[in-house]
Amino acid sequence: MSERRTLIAPSILACDFARLGDEIHAVENAGADCIHVDVMDGHFVPNITIGPLVVAAAQSATKLPLDVHLMIESPERYIDAFAKAGASTVSVHVETCPHLHRTLAQVRETGARASVALNPATPPAAVREVLGEVDQVLVMTVNPGFGGQKFITSMLAKIETLREWIDADGLEVAIEVDGGIGPETIGRAANAGASVFVAGTAVFGADDYAAAILELRRAATTSIES
Ligand code: DX5
Ligand code: ZN
Repeated sequence: MSERRTLIAPSILACDFARLGDEIHAVENAGADCIHVDVMDGHFVPNITIGPLVVAAAQSATKLPLDVHLMIESPERYIDAFAKAGASTVSVHVETCPHLHRTLAQVRETGARASVALNPATPPAAVREVLGEVDQVLVMTVNPGFGGQKFITSMLAKIETLREWIDADGLEVAIEVDGGIGPETIGRAANAGASVFVAGTAVFGADDYAAAILELRRAATTSIES
């Protein structure tokens, strides 16, 4: 049985942006642990979403930590702006960082938690050398760019490998999973070693946000304990 705490991170990508503040309040009241913010630039991923201005607006609407996922090229150009806007955690994609070690240090210098993200096609070895430099690894369980996609089951082995390396090195690094997380998939991700679960559609697509978050938490916890 694991003692890892289950954290549910609703992704505002699936919320009603015309009512952003209300939507954030609603998931905060419904039991969310942090707010996941998907930043896309139209280059690294096909979609374009939000920038630091909206992160600052989200920050003023909640006491919860903001988990900012940068799906952008040259993230080093924007890390300071997102940290200043209120990001508690900043994820950069390994595929966008030729000088990953330096970029992660840059995140830490802002005071934010440093997180490194991997696309489905990227092997876990791509982050092996920087596990000691991060607070979190974000394993993409869909190809980034859009919400509502299907969980890629073969990512479970990657989560297991990362969990083994982290534990073997005695590190305190959280594994976050993002994409296609719902009551049917969250248990398998938890069993493989993840503890932070991004959920867009599974939360904001539900009629009752509190019930949806509780169901996710139950499905994750039950599976870890069994
Ligand atoms: C995908 C984003 C995800 C997305 C998840 O590129 O990084 O955070 O919002 O959406 P669901 O939970 O609907 O798969
Ligand atoms: Zn995301």
